[in-house]
Amino acid sequence: MSIDYLRISVTDRCNLRCVYCNPLGESGFINHDEILKFEEIHRIVRLLAGRGIRKVRLTGGEPLIRKNVTELVKKLASVEGIDELALTTNGILLGEMAAELKDAGLDRVNISIDSVGRDNYKDITGFDFLEKATEGLHKALEVGLGPVKLNSVIIKGVNDSAEQILLLAGMSLKLPVTVRFIEYYPTGNNTRPAGDYVPNGEIKKIIEGKFGQLGNIINGKSDGPASSFKIEGSAGSIGFISGRSSVFCETCNRLRLTSDGKIMPCLYSSQQYDLKKLIRYEATDDELLEYFKMILDKKSEYTKLTSTSSDFLMQDIGG
Ligand code: GTP
Ligand code: 5AD
Ligand code: SF4
Repeated sequence: MSIDYLRISVTDRCNLRCVYCNPLGESGFINHDEILKFEEIHRIVRLLAGRGIRKVRLTGGEPLIRKNVTELVKKLASVEGIDELALTTNGILLGEMAAELKDAGLDRVNISIDSVGRDNYKDITGFDFLEKATEGLHKALEVGLGPVKLNSVIIKGVNDSAEQILLLAGMSLKLPVTVRFIEYYPTGNNTRPAGDYVPNGEIKKIIEGKFGQLGNIINGKSDGPASSFKIEGSAGSIGFISGRSSVFCETCNRLRLTSDGKIMPCLYSSQQYDLKKLIRYEATDDELLEYFKMILDKKSEYTKLTSTSSDFLMQDIGG
């Protein structure tokens, strides 16, 4: 599989406290000086574009709370070789920022919405912000930041009721969005046991019980390991990202860059490469290119790892 996708966490901070990510908000945040500067991120993307990276996604924490993030979008949008620039957000600030992000050259957004029940959303994220996230979604569609995908991590006993799942899936009936169900993955500081994940097979059954058999659709270029379906006659589609109940390593095409400048070749391995250290020791472009080559070669060694609990913090990695 060729590695053509780079996910960049631009901050580990967030304006929500999702139960599956950073529920207590007390993990301690990375010191500002340790976070990659825009010029450093720009340089990494420019060099990696020369090593085959074609798609870049900004993540967090919450990327929209990084100061002047629109400036970073502008810089990255103009890098030669990058065909797609995307961002994953909780949507809270999207209502006010979608238009400027689009103007700066952002192509698409994915938005985390784990429930469309107001109280249920608050139980999951810690804040009564469902309306804001929904406003963000509509603004993103209005300014053309599509195709928009919605991410829902379903947790046992929290947002796994048939009612909530059907309401989420039903969002794809009228809106041109992909509603994706993501199997919960336990990480360093969340308070939910690994067993609280809900296999996507169960969710699919619930959806089919109400809407009839889902039609299988061919994955789009940007769909990664999600399997994609459609409720008959709907405007949007439904995706399942089943990192717990299945292994999709052979289709994995991505590298992750943490906000403090480490490259993670695989979400399920603790191996990290400290790129920032090299950059701040004034490595030349050629030295960095050599380093990337070594990481890309290593990446092919990660296959069929199982997704048990990891020590990393989701807000450092950005999903
Ligand atoms: P698209 O470009 O729209 O396909 O987005 P994406 O799924 O790559 O990005 P997003 O930030 O929306 O990711 C959603 C969640 O799915 C994150 O928690 C990811 O970690 C998880 N995910 C997506 N692809 C993979 C993968 O290849 N491996 C693993 N382990 N998790 C993945
Ligand atoms: N397990 C699965 N998915 C997660 N995300 C964040 N934390 C977890 C977790 N523990 C997903 C969210 C977010 C994306 C970037 O990562 O759906 O949209
Ligand atoms: Fe914030 Fe996203 Fe983590 Fe929720 S999942 S706390 S929105 S970074």
